[in-house]
Amino acid sequence: MTTVLLDVDTGIDDALAILTAALSNEIDLVGCSVVWGNVDVEQGARNTSEVLRLAGHGDVPVAVGAAGPRNGSRAVFSTQVHGEDGLGGCADTAHVPDLASESAVELILRLSHEHARSLEIVAVGPLTNLAAALDADPGLPERIRQVTIMGGAALAPGNVSETAEANIWHDPEAAQVVFDAPWELTMVGLDVTMTSLITDAHRERLRAGGEVGRFCDRILDFYLDYYEGYTGERASGNHDALALAVATGLVRTTLSPIVDVHVDCSDGPARGRTVAELEGAWGEWPEREGARHRVVMEVEPGFEDRMVELLAAAP
Ligand code: BDR
Ligand code: CA
Repeated sequence: MTTVLLDVDTGIDDALAILTAALSNEIDLVGCSVVWGNVDVEQGARNTSEVLRLAGHGDVPVAVGAAGPRNGSRAVFSTQVHGEDGLGGCADTAHVPDLASESAVELILRLSHEHARSLEIVAVGPLTNLAAALDADPGLPERIRQVTIMGGAALAPGNVSETAEANIWHDPEAAQVVFDAPWELTMVGLDVTMTSLITDAHRERLRAGGEVGRFCDRILDFYLDYYEGYTGERASGNHDALALAVATGLVRTTLSPIVDVHVDCSDGPARGRTVAELEGAWGEWPEREGARHRVVMEVEPGFEDRMVELLAAAP
């Protein structure tokens, strides 16, 4: 059983990750901190609360975090991917969110004390909250078992620019702070999340399930429409849930070298790119002295099928 704090910017694939974390017997979900990203942070918090309640886990604390990038620049959201409400037009406008009185940073720090050295942070949005938590308490990494992020692209192309992935591109300065901090960090980027694909066949299985499954089927319609327009195929990356799965052992990694990763924080065309030192690929990945970032390049196939089974089986 892994104790997990999820840092989310709840759009469609975040919702799948939250539901998976809430419903899996292997995971103890102890909190959700919310960050801006796919939608504004208030909408993200509403969505997080709605999704947790749907899973029967309305008691998991949901704390509101950063509303925009670390450097104070204007927040740009990804509503074209997730819908204006972040849930493909399916958010319940009557939902009254149940939000914690503490901030995202306060929640992260409190849980890091309550679950010292056993807390796994899984961050699946821009890294603004985590960077702020490090500012508030530079001793945080000592109390964390591991940080796993959905973000970046080592060899795969980007999804907002030629080279940058959305979560890192939204806030490169925050990402750099998080990569630099002295904790074990695993990067689950587009190299693998675009190999774990959700299709209409999965939606059909979800539709035949209970309330949770039917909700997932509905929100995924918008997501698959977006991907179809973007890649020509009705198949979406299962980004955020795959990062959760790597962090908690729900999926096995088959290639994940430990290398150094730097974030391009320039104002040039590569802004937001994760530059991973992967030249070890030519020499069977010899251990690199002092390297600290585990970059997942391959996972065993099939996680998305197991996830769909779990979500469809929920009441
Ligand atoms: C990431 O960006 C967001 O749109 C998704 O929720 C995911 O976390 C994929 O690049
Ligand atoms: Ca996300």
